[in-house]
Amino acid sequence: MKKIIAVSKGDGIGPEIVTEGVKVLDTISKYTDFEFELKDAPAGGEVWKKHGENLPDKSFQTIKNADALLFGAVGLPDLPPGTGESAVLKIRQGLDLYVNLRPIKLYNVLRDKCPLKEEYIGKGIDITFIRENTEGLYKNIGKLEKDSAENLMVYTRKGCERIINYAYKFAKRMGHRKLTSVDKANLLYASKFWRTIFHEIGEKYPEIEKEDIYIDAFCQWLIRAPYKFQTVVTDNMFGDIISDEGAFLIGSLGMAPSGNIHPGKVSMYEPIHGSAPDIAGKGIANPIGTILSIKLMLQESFNLVEIGNEIDLAVEDALKEGRTVDIKHKDLKVLTTSEMGNLIVDKLKNKLKN
Ligand code: NAI
Ligand code: MG
Repeated sequence: MKKIIAVSKGDGIGPEIVTEGVKVLDTISKYTDFEFELKDAPAGGEVWKKHGENLPDKSFQTIKNADALLFGAVGLPDLPPGTGESAVLKIRQGLDLYVNLRPIKLYNVLRDKCPLKEEYIGKGIDITFIRENTEGLYKNIGKLEKDSAENLMVYTRKGCERIINYAYKFAKRMGHRKLTSVDKANLLYASKFWRTIFHEIGEKYPEIEKEDIYIDAFCQWLIRAPYKFQTVVTDNMFGDIISDEGAFLIGSLGMAPSGNIHPGKVSMYEPIHGSAPDIAGKGIANPIGTILSIKLMLQESFNLVEIGNEIDLAVEDALKEGRTVDIKHKDLKVLTTSEMGNLIVDKLKNKLKN
């Protein structure tokens, strides 16, 4: 089967990490019956410099006509804030990508890089955050005046139902016995509304245990007993914050993948980090967040769960032999971005050949 993947490399380390992701896609094309055709869809600050737009029409058309989008990172320090970055929001809104899927998994081989003590890591960390991606405080409803400023937090029934439904289905598909919902229902009407819908929909899933936790308490539990959580569903802002906290637990921001998803439609897969101007052009960025975003793409957009799992295992094997500088280990070789990518591709080739 053939699928078309739009590719937006973006700015800073974006092109470096996406190059490694493309190697993984090419490897799958070569060693399986599945084939990917890649189409360039430039976006971000560099494109803005040339064309005065961060998401030219042509790019957006390419993305809309593709089966999925692989996205690097955008943003340049010599441009006003938001100039390149708002391309991401345009894509999320333009494609109505209401699910932001952010898995946080600590590989056993990286336990030395987790900032938590062994007793807190416990049985390990493997949590999927499901963040609502289109509503709440980030919808930009509000005003900025001379002596005051306000943002309005609006949740709609449709918005809550579709993300919560997705979360239950996801938890069930993954064989998770519990779904945790994070809110602030002791204070916010929007959260009370969310919580009611969480339990209404939950009636269809008697086999799944429902857990409600306030956002402030959750931030504490996430570092005190992260092994307690499996799938966590939450609103736009809370999800933004806790998924970054989570990403820190797995060793490096460079390790964390994400999907911006509308089930059944073209969805966008990207590492959660930004364009990292401080290390751009040095060839030292960690490409694993991007490579694991491809795993998510295969799993969520193309139902290729087995190949996705092989990517995961290839990453784990590679980490036992060498690592980029952000996750370096005294006994292992320090690798460049492309050496890390090549090592993972080698491991993947062997798995796909067998
Ligand atoms: P950042 O995520 O780019 O970098 C934060 C820190 O993590 C830096 O020290 C960086 O070197 C390191 N880091 C990030 N990715 C890494 C990787 N793959 N390997 C090793 N180290 C890595 O966040 P920052 O510095 O706040 O933002 C830089 C630019 O990126 C800004 O213009 C920001 O607006 C933009 N941004 C874009 C995003 C996107 O495209 N979706 C998301 C977040 C930020
Ligand atoms: Mg964020």
